[in-house]
Amino acid sequence: APLAGVIGMPIAHSRSPRLHGHWLARYNLPGHYVPLPVQPEHLAEVLRILPRAGFVGVNVTIPHKEAVLTLADTVTDRAALIGAANTLIFRPDGKIHADNTDGYGFIANLRQAAPDWQPDTAPAAVIGAGGAARAVVASLLETGVRELRIANRTRLRAEQIKAEFGARVVVYEWAQVGNMLEGAATVVNATSLGMEGKQPLRVPLDALLPGALVTDLVYTPLMTPFLVEAQARGCRVVDGLGMLLHQAAPGFERWFGHRPEVDDETRRIVL
Ligand code: ATR
Repeated sequence: APLAGVIGMPIAHSRSPRLHGHWLARYNLPGHYVPLPVQPEHLAEVLRILPRAGFVGVNVTIPHKEAVLTLADTVTDRAALIGAANTLIFRPDGKIHADNTDGYGFIANLRQAAPDWQPDTAPAAVIGAGGAARAVVASLLETGVRELRIANRTRLRAEQIKAEFGARVVVYEWAQVGNMLEGAATVVNATSLGMEGKQPLRVPLDALLPGALVTDLVYTPLMTPFLVEAQARGCRVVDGLGMLLHQAAPGFERWFGHRPEVDDETRRIVL
């Protein structure tokens, strides 16, 4: 039976084993998916050994998402652009192929939750410029967003994203983040604010169009204070859990041979 897993440190909190385990059972497929706690200094060694122990690939999470790029034999364009990988395929010839499906998961979640969402009709506004924001920016630009506004507490990180992703990216001051929402069709919280135990994201929403689609990468809680406020203004809101589920689908399909569905049952299993 094919083996797969998720490499990280710490890894006990990861929801991926439950998700993949659920899909394996649902589709009655042979295989196992396990959490793999790996220290950074052991990452290269572990990646060399796993294919020899029956592993067909792994997901990668903090703190290894950047480091695996230098250890992979081939890297997809999108993973290279984002500067991180979350999905590794161990090929029969021994080569390691690295991809990043976070942006795919982000877009697939929005398309499923809001089938009539039209990202290319008006600007998108991304709040935050960390690792997660990079995948969001890449995927929004790929869907044809013509203007992508971004603001980050540390402005330099937003400037770096503009430098790498190009002319459609417009950097806003963190203090002006409310202005960034004016006329936007899509608004994303890609900061960690709003997570349980952290401060909420505080953004003046006066400029927000009621027709805007507002989403949050934070999914603990599912309805962040930011989403609650946007919903109260009549916006369509999409929580961040679906991104986690959808980003897992391409890896599962490659490793276990069946395209898994993301539905309410999947959400319940992972919560
Ligand atoms: P991730 O990979 O989850 O994006 P990250 O790279 O650490 O994690 O990025 C976290 C994001 O949340 C960043 O945009 C960060 O802003 P900075 O780049 O200025 O650090 C943002 N963030 C975290 N805490 C914040 C706070 N208290 N106020 C504003 N932004 C915050």
